[in-house]
Amino acid sequence: MRKIALIVVVIGAAVAVSHVGLGAQAPARGAAPARPAAAASRVHGDLNQLMRGVIYPASNVVFAAQEDPSAIKPADDPATSPNPLTSVYGGWTAVENAGITLAESANLMMLPGRVCSNGKPEPMRNADWALFVQELRDSGMAVYKAAQSKNQDMVLEAVDKMTVSCSNCHDVYREKTTAQGGLAARCTK
Ligand code: HEC
Repeated sequence: MRKIALIVVVIGAAVAVSHVGLGAQAPARGAAPARPAAAASRVHGDLNQLMRGVIYPASNVVFAAQEDPSAIKPADDPATSPNPLTSVYGGWTAVENAGITLAESANLMMLPGRVCSNGKPEPMRNADWALFVQELRDSGMAVYKAAQSKNQDMVLEAVDKMTVSCSNCHDVYREKTTAQGGLAARCTK
């Protein structure tokens, strides 16, 4: 346990140092001030990659929380566990984090410039799209609150909310039969 705590402290210190490093980059004398943080928002993946890489793993943590997360045994080496539930930040903390991840994903889903896997723009101007994204955000925060309260009934309600938010959007924008145009018709109505 002491070894793990030490690793966490070391990682924390490294992060702190790198932040200091960034903050210390003063503009050269006479140069225009560095551009503000807005330049840091940039889209890197398509919507499918965001779903597979961020939303899907987080939702699996939430689904697993339908059974008491405090009963989940930590991995042999929690510091290196790729499973959030058995990691150093495991159990209920992993469920809290999954809720936050889903809510933050709602922000990522509204960043301008993201395309879907078929090259179509993410339909974020559609009113129903924005509503579905809001449902995802709300369900993420419901998961977060349920996990903070460690209340299993609240978790079950939050899981329902989350599942509905995923399928409401998928029904319209993801599930496309061949007759509807298949993958090429994703992200369109
Ligand atoms: C606002 C709309 C929206 C919401 C909310 C949403 N999705 Fe998606 N999802 C999509 C669309 C559209 C695609 C297809 C994207 C593409 O092909 O680029 C997709 C794709 C996926 C994929 C990949 C499918 C594949 O072809 O490999 C997974 C997994 C997924 N979503 C999981 C989820 C889960 C779990 C939730 C809820 C926690 C969720 N999504 C919420 C719109 C949404």
